[in-house]
Amino acid sequence: MIEKKLKRYIYAPETSLHRVLGDLYRKAVTICLVVDSKKKLLGIVTITDLKQAIFKGVDPNTPVHTIMNTTFVSAEVGTSLTKLRRLAMGKTKYKTGIFEKIPILDQHSTLKGLYILPGSQEELRRTVLVTGGAGYVGSHVCRLLLKKGYKVVVLDKLLFGNAGIRDLLKHKNFKLIKGDISNISTLISAVQQADAVIHLAGIVGDPASALNPLHTMEQNHFATKAFIDVCKHYQIARFVFASSCSVYGANPGLLKEESDLRPVSLYAQSKRYSEFVLLREADDNFHPIILRFGTLYGLSPRMRFDLVVNTMTAHAHSRKIIMVDGGGQWRPLLHVEDAAAACVAALETPLQKVSGQIFNVGDTQENYQIQDIAKAVQGHLPGTHIHQQDTVKDRRDYKVSFNKINHRMGWRISRTLTEGIAEIVTTLRKGQFKQWDDKRYNNYLMLRSVLEDIP
Ligand SMILES: NC(=O)c1ccc[n+]([C@@H]2O[C@H](COP(=O)([O-])OP(=O)(O)OC[C@H]3O[C@@H](n4cnc5c(N)ncnc54)[C@H](O)[C@@H]3O)[C@@H](O)[C@H]2O)c1
Repeated sequence: MIEKKLKRYIYAPETSLHRVLGDLYRKAVTICLVVDSKKKLLGIVTITDLKQAIFKGVDPNTPVHTIMNTTFVSAEVGTSLTKLRRLAMGKTKYKTGIFEKIPILDQHSTLKGLYILPGSQEELRRTVLVTGGAGYVGSHVCRLLLKKGYKVVVLDKLLFGNAGIRDLLKHKNFKLIKGDISNISTLISAVQQADAVIHLAGIVGDPASALNPLHTMEQNHFATKAFIDVCKHYQIARFVFASSCSVYGANPGLLKEESDLRPVSLYAQSKRYSEFVLLREADDNFHPIILRFGTLYGLSPRMRFDLVVNTMTAHAHSRKIIMVDGGGQWRPLLHVEDAAAACVAALETPLQKVSGQIFNVGDTQENYQIQDIAKAVQGHLPGTHIHQQDTVKDRRDYKVSFNKINHRMGWRISRTLTEGIAEIVTTLRKGQFKQWDDKRYNNYLMLRSVLEDIP
């Protein structure tokens, strides 16, 4: 059986040049594999071959087999990834100019697979699997990817419904697989359709993660481990992982990627474990990129009102009061759209700059103490009373440096805290999110109700 991913490259010998060229453009692929009815590989044609033939005046209705290259580099089923990589990098006696892709054949020359060199243009521009794509960050990631011309497959169990992606369901380049990342068959079928992964799904936030520790470990850590295995098997080269600056825990100083990790919650601990396994599994064909987001804020098609800035703004708007727990704790803040943009930047930055790397995602100027966030919200909603409590329930306290992502990826934020507060205030004033304290906007409340329903 030919895998779904391979089908986009395959053409019968009689297909016209015109049809193949149009198809390759549409599918954003650069070669066509010409096979007979038994899937025996007869030859290869690149998009350049097709264009040159048509420019030279060859009739566009001519069958593609007339211009195919019958001498090409291929590999036998079972060839190691290291050898495939070497072949793809052009270290062979042939000079056909198609080395970024190596067809994999059995002993009868039947096409069984296609190896694509990680980091090649083709690897960069194809179908991206976004787990948790219906979530607060994911719904922005999907929109950005579609806008840039990617195909998007979302694997999400829709814990909070489909508000985040409802309007994308009819998009020709969008597909939803409603399912759980901890179900291996579902995971495999999603990975088979993808060329790169952005992994966002999981139980998100300290309070939600504390509800059922075993469930949290299963969904956040063990599912990620299995995901890595599946991706390695199906030759997914780029794996962008959403981690969190929460891994720094309660930690003094300006923290860099190599600083000590002192997680104070199971949520952060689960991220730390996953980071460790991802980096341990990195090799020439598997390139994890770890993004440690700051604390997010801002509007999203799947809205959350359980994040510090969003919660304070909603309280100030509707109840004229903000409760501050302690107040001196540092927190780096990041707009949700910037978090999504960082995911796509990690997908597009040349591999040698990002492979196997951890990046704090945010801006060093956007570290705030909790009491300053409350004051910034009060500045937008005058008349708000700030009620400060001395009991510190949330012990997280971290101030983070974001120089690495600025310098290595050339990536910068596009919004600041005050802009984020302003957009939420405007939306609330328009009467949207009247039920902002409903469980659908709160990860802890929603997960608690779901877990209560499980006998
Ligand atoms: N929001 C933040 O402040 C923040 C900060 C740092 C890191 N992150 C990380 O960013 C990622 C996205 O966070 P978010 O704020 O968008 O969270 P979210 O809760 O809004 O979205 C998570 C999505 O994953 C889905 N999901 C959960 N478990 C799943 C499973 N087992 N199988 C399939 N789908 C599942 C949910 O249905 C939801 O759509 C997470 O990995 C989170 O840890 C978020």
